[in-house]
Amino acid sequence: MDFTKVKENEEKSVLEKKEIVEKDFWRQKYHIQGIVGLINDPNGFSQFKGKYHMFYQWNPLGTNHKNKTWAHSVSDDLLHWERLKTALRPDTWYSKDGVYSGSAIADDKKLYLFYTGNVKDADGNRESYQCLAVSSDGENFERWEPSIVNQPDGYTRHIRDPKIWKKDGKFYAVIGIQSENLEGKAVLYSSENIKDWKFEGEIAGANHGKIKDFGFMWECPDYFQLKDEKTGEIKDLLVFSPQGLEPEGDLYNNKYQTGYLFGKLDYEKPEFEISSNFVEIDRGHDFYAPQSMEDDKGRRIIVGWMGVPEEEDFPTVKNEWLHCLTLPRELKVINGKLYQLPIKEMESIRGEKIEFNEKVAGEVKVGTGTTYELKARFTDINSDFGLKLRTGKNSETVLKFDYNDKKFVLDRTKGEQPDKRLRKVYLGDISKLELTVFVDNSSVEVFINGGQEVFSSRIFPEKDADGISVFADKNVNVEIEKWEWK
Ligand code: FRU
Repeated sequence: MDFTKVKENEEKSVLEKKEIVEKDFWRQKYHIQGIVGLINDPNGFSQFKGKYHMFYQWNPLGTNHKNKTWAHSVSDDLLHWERLKTALRPDTWYSKDGVYSGSAIADDKKLYLFYTGNVKDADGNRESYQCLAVSSDGENFERWEPSIVNQPDGYTRHIRDPKIWKKDGKFYAVIGIQSENLEGKAVLYSSENIKDWKFEGEIAGANHGKIKDFGFMWECPDYFQLKDEKTGEIKDLLVFSPQGLEPEGDLYNNKYQTGYLFGKLDYEKPEFEISSNFVEIDRGHDFYAPQSMEDDKGRRIIVGWMGVPEEEDFPTVKNEWLHCLTLPRELKVINGKLYQLPIKEMESIRGEKIEFNEKVAGEVKVGTGTTYELKARFTDINSDFGLKLRTGKNSETVLKFDYNDKKFVLDRTKGEQPDKRLRKVYLGDISKLELTVFVDNSSVEVFINGGQEVFSSRIFPEKDADGISVFADKNVNVEIEKWEWK
């Protein structure tokens, strides 16, 4: 096979498209995005030699899901990213149709990438190889021949997205897979030397244990532990992106979902003993295939793809780029519940501040902005109220508390985004509502009541849609702090 053109084609495409991409006013300020083309899943999120490393699925040639490489960026603060050269390209026989998702682990002064090589044979049949690449400098990767060539008996060739960790001197990986009767599952592998892997067994899946029908494929599984900040108890979490769930009221309204289960991983059986329901991790329109890592400050940080497969008819395509990643968030368990919090570093990009403090009945303009952080605190709740962001002639994004339904609603009806349906979550009887909102040029991320719920959605307002207002049916008390981003 002749792979000499792969790098050349990438460079040519970047040269051709860069200028048009850079002129787009929807380009993000503090979100990882491709320099041209399409990006999707975060991969290999890790820390190595004092820097955060983020790799991500990148098609440099166009805005469709082809030609996947691993783009690579590094950062000191998780907000300012420097792009390094492409880490992995589809230029080996075992990854010729895409270097698919995977993870990273720093071990023995080396950075290892564990990923899926995607191959289509002459008849279009899929082959999947789980492969390693290793680096001493964090920039140049030596690729090894595939470590896992065949899927275990009883499964299809849909096996991908290994997430690696180390425990008691041994390596483990959880991998997404599909059974022969077309059900999504997660399987556990182990390795003594990181090169040779042993199939341990299926630890969770649709029609496995307590979980009934639950999709035809589970993508991008992630496993980790968190210590409950209140009780001190260690909680195990399995995060995954099941495909094939039907909408149920406010739940599962995106084409594909991402959520988590609490439980306990029994390595011997092996089995992820489930102790909770499946909970969607994000309630917005655009969140999928997240990946987490524990940093040297002991924080469990998670980043998602701010997009969903097959829901990608975004207007940036005409400007030769598509998608971005979410802002990083910190995960915590407090009294048995998962919270997602903005990382502390977000405070370092706070610039000019405005404040607002009033009882509101009707609608009041608070300020303007297109890239900022806004904190709002609503008390004396007695009717519908909320915020309107990025308002302009044809655009607005509405964050609202529906007093009768007791639900928080994200409404992105106005603007150029394709899916105009509402997204909602039930909050119940609340005496106050606290929102932390991050607005970038084409996205909004909303953290509710200390990270109890999060909404991530892309928005495509017209260029000068920068209004910010607050509204309430009756007298609701509102305190707002807003910082323009530096
Ligand atoms: C999830 C996913 C992964 C796959 C990758 C390919 O979005 O489909 O399962 O490895 O994207 O880009």
